[in-house]
Amino acid sequence: VTNSETSTATVLGLGAMGSALARALLTAGHPTTVWNRSADKAVPLVEQGAVRASTVAEAIEASPLTIVCLVDATAVHELLDEAGDALSGRVLVNLTSGTPEHARTLADRAVHYVDGGIMAVPPMIGGPDALVLYSGSGEAFAAHRPVLESLGAARYLGEDPGLAALYDFALLSGMYGMFAGALHAYALVGTEGVPATAFNELLVPWLDAMASTLPRVAEEVDSGDYGSDSPLAMQATGVASLIEASRAQGITPDLILPVKRLMDEAVAAGHGDSDVAALVRVMARGAPR
Ligand SMILES: NC(=O)c1ccc[n+]([C@@H]2O[C@H](COP(=O)([O-])OP(=O)(O)OC[C@H]3O[C@@H](n4cnc5c(N)ncnc54)[C@H](OP(=O)(O)O)[C@@H]3O)[C@@H](O)[C@H]2O)c1
Repeated sequence: VTNSETSTATVLGLGAMGSALARALLTAGHPTTVWNRSADKAVPLVEQGAVRASTVAEAIEASPLTIVCLVDATAVHELLDEAGDALSGRVLVNLTSGTPEHARTLADRAVHYVDGGIMAVPPMIGGPDALVLYSGSGEAFAAHRPVLESLGAARYLGEDPGLAALYDFALLSGMYGMFAGALHAYALVGTEGVPATAFNELLVPWLDAMASTLPRVAEEVDSGDYGSDSPLAMQATGVASLIEASRAQGITPDLILPVKRLMDEAVAAGHGDSDVAALVRVMARGAPR
């Protein structure tokens, strides 16, 4: 395989994200073949220099590396059914969002399989802030790393194909937790006419300060040796007041209630003297289905 062959790529799926991926490959100078179920979405990419394939198999056979980015894992399975043997000896990088289990099931269908999680929105692809997480065949990832790096920073996590999806969801969990807390805060001060933009002057440095405590929280999660500076029994009482105050201001406490429930469970399980890291213990016991 020559260098020019290893730098060519195929993109299957030209929605908002797939089109951004193909554009970034073309911009970085990689000869790119594209295919989409609705053929018209290939037109702007062909104008940028992409080659349009008329079938999935033809698209896959055009490059040693195929990147697939569809709506969900079911669509990827359908596409692989359509591909027949075309993938044989070729690398499949699946950047469609799915669960770790979806990734492991898809990995069973392609010998050289890499799964990925895109930590970016389409306009960020190819730019300095885009990050893509990868897991699965380390050999396949290493062989195509230079091409994949034109999409964004590439972080390889290990041979288990489910790891990229797991990390992706864990990062999203952190994000949604932060947004949920911030939105509750805006709603609460909003009841007294305080604009969210004005409140940010206090909220953003506060969240920065709290984020700076995460190294200590993480150490406690790993060691199971919890600190007691802010014991959960005290925090649970404080959060009960927060919930009462929210209701009194006419705000639903829906985003805060699950935190209170876990705190109560942790206190009941004997973690009243531990700080917030002990909540992970309660979560690890699983949730009622
Ligand atoms: N957009 C984002 O901000 C973002 C960020 C991170 C990750 N992602 C992930 O990237 C993936 C694609 O997202 P997107 O924003 O590009 O979505 P999108 O714009 O809705 O595009 C969906 C793509 O899936 C194709 N598709 C749907 N069902 C199909 C099927 N049965 N067979 C073949 N093709 C099928 C569509 O083809 P047609 O054009 O023919 O309908 C289209 O190319 C998703 O898994 C998403 O979670 C997106």
